Amino acid sequence: MDMKISPSMMCADIANLKSTLTEFEECKIEYLHIDIMDGHFVPNFTLGTDYCKALKKLTSIPLDIHLMINDPELKLEWFDFGEGDIVSVHAESTKHLQKALAFVKSKGAKAFVAINPATPLCLLDEIINDIDGVLVMAVNPGFAGQKMVPNALEKIRRVRDYLDNNGYNDKEIEVDGNVSYENAIKMKQAGANIFVAGTSSVFNPNYSLTDGIEKMRNQLR
Ligand code: DX5
Ligand code: ZN
Repeated sequence: MDMKISPSMMCADIANLKSTLTEFEECKIEYLHIDIMDGHFVPNFTLGTDYCKALKKLTSIPLDIHLMINDPELKLEWFDFGEGDIVSVHAESTKHLQKALAFVKSKGAKAFVAINPATPLCLLDEIINDIDGVLVMAVNPGFAGQKMVPNALEKIRRVRDYLDNNGYNDKEIEVDGNVSYENAIKMKQAGANIFVAGTSSVFNPNYSLTDGIEKMRNQLR
């Protein structure tokens, strides 16, 4: 499976958005990770629908929309996503997970289920045909700059085993939170193939964006 990088746009310098996007296009970045937080599902506010629409006008890089909002099935229509994009819905955020995932698929986007560190994996049995991938949270979502929780690598490994053992080798695993250059190697070994790059790597001020992406690509080779 190809290794893909999805820079976390909540960590980007908004004053230099256009040049950031140009740099990402030159580096052939696969996705732009957009954290949508509603102040309820997670204790923070971040990016929103207008930001996604603005990005669509500025770049053709596919969006990787991470919905950290309650009752996403009531709000999915507000977003303008489609073929090539990923939309992740948190299992813990809705009583109608299947409905939300099916809506994402009906728009032609890839539907991922996002799971918090404490969420049991048995729910995958019930929605496996509704998803294209699993977003494993390596931190409790809400804030950039946190440390990986202890069970994160084991969780990725268990999701990969579950998918492979049941004939779903083509379903992807994305990992979000504290994807540092060092952790990325371990996350890849555990079975992840999409890596959210935030303050732990690409948006670390010690490197230029291009150097950071190159360094991450080398780690993932
Ligand atoms: C966590 C966010 C992440 C975060 C990742 O809730 O979803 O996108 O920004 O970046 P770092 O490397 O800061 O954990
Ligand atoms: Zn995220």
